[in-house]
Amino acid sequence: EIADKGQYPHYMLKEIHEQPETLSRTLSHYLDPIEMRVDMPDGLDFAAIDRVIIVACGTAYYAGMVAKYMFEQIAGLAVDIDIASEFRYRDPVLSPKSLMIVVSQSGETADTLAALRYAKSFNLKTAALVNVMTSTMAREADIALPIKAGPEIGVASTKAFTSQTCALATLAVGAAFARGHIDADTAAAHCRDLATLPQRVVEALLCSDDIAQVAATLIDAKSIFFLGRGPMVPIALEGALKLKEISYIHAEGYAAGELKHGPIALIETGTPVIIIAPDDALFEKTVSNLQEVAARGARIILLTDAKGADAAKGLSKTIVTLPTATPLCAPIIQAIGQQLLAYHTAVTLGTDVDQPRNLAKSVTVE
Ligand code: G6P
Repeated sequence: EIADKGQYPHYMLKEIHEQPETLSRTLSHYLDPIEMRVDMPDGLDFAAIDRVIIVACGTAYYAGMVAKYMFEQIAGLAVDIDIASEFRYRDPVLSPKSLMIVVSQSGETADTLAALRYAKSFNLKTAALVNVMTSTMAREADIALPIKAGPEIGVASTKAFTSQTCALATLAVGAAFARGHIDADTAAAHCRDLATLPQRVVEALLCSDDIAQVAATLIDAKSIFFLGRGPMVPIALEGALKLKEISYIHAEGYAAGELKHGPIALIETGTPVIIIAPDDALFEKTVSNLQEVAARGARIILLTDAKGADAAKGLSKTIVTLPTATPLCAPIIQAIGQQLLAYHTAVTLGTDVDQPRNLAKSVTVE
């Protein structure tokens, strides 16, 4: 793949639009398209472990956080998720039956690599989910797991995030089946569901113009909040990270239910609050948090799906309707909305989208 912007003004936008294709590649690596089952990578035995430890930095950490929900809900398998720069300094209690998965686009991030080496020194089984298969992490881990996103040039990670999340979703389904937590029919249904992801992403990308209009209203904001519940918590955190990385607007992601324990004090008339709430099991609860901030004068921007948009009519003047998706696919669909929101805000502000100040694509020093 040649690193060329093609018809796009920025690598980031090109990479956002590549996602139907990059996700297809991720899925074809991990799914058997005929049998509709997960092709479990060699050496990965989820039946032999009692815990997964995911360690990563930045955007990759949020992909791991989404995966925690998937492994716990679909496979009944406990997941610890750690920030790599913290992991080795807190004397983590490591059981020999744990599997450590480091998640890293580059496979070179210093803290993530150090966490991998730390786990190996305790004889833990290790896997590295990376985009660069020639990287140090891919070489040093017991098992190297590719995400197949192709070269990512934009400093703000987009297609790597969705491919990391997608690969981890397939592994969660594979783990659920391997552990006897779900039967073959249920596993096949999950695989068929995941196989629809690229087409849903095509549809999500059609929201770009709507999102650009929302972005134009954000450029004077001093501070923006991103709220979600369940798997939308990491998507809110990722949305806030993406926005601050490239637009330099202060943004905070929060678990919606935690808002009243502090951050609600910062809500003033007109403060933009981005609410990420597809119509899922927690939708009603998120809506009640939406009403709490709306009552304090916040300007609500709701990113949801068709059913959510219908149910929330009248609660928000600004609603972006992304494609309807199942719990396995919804985090990725909603992440596309967040990427577009950050991108269009930054472009409107005229920042250097592909090379934001002070940031490096890969942080190879501690
Ligand atoms: C840097 C990049 C981020 C990335 C993080 C982790 O901060 O700017 O986009 O998420 O490193 O990088 P990795 O290569 O380990 O995924």
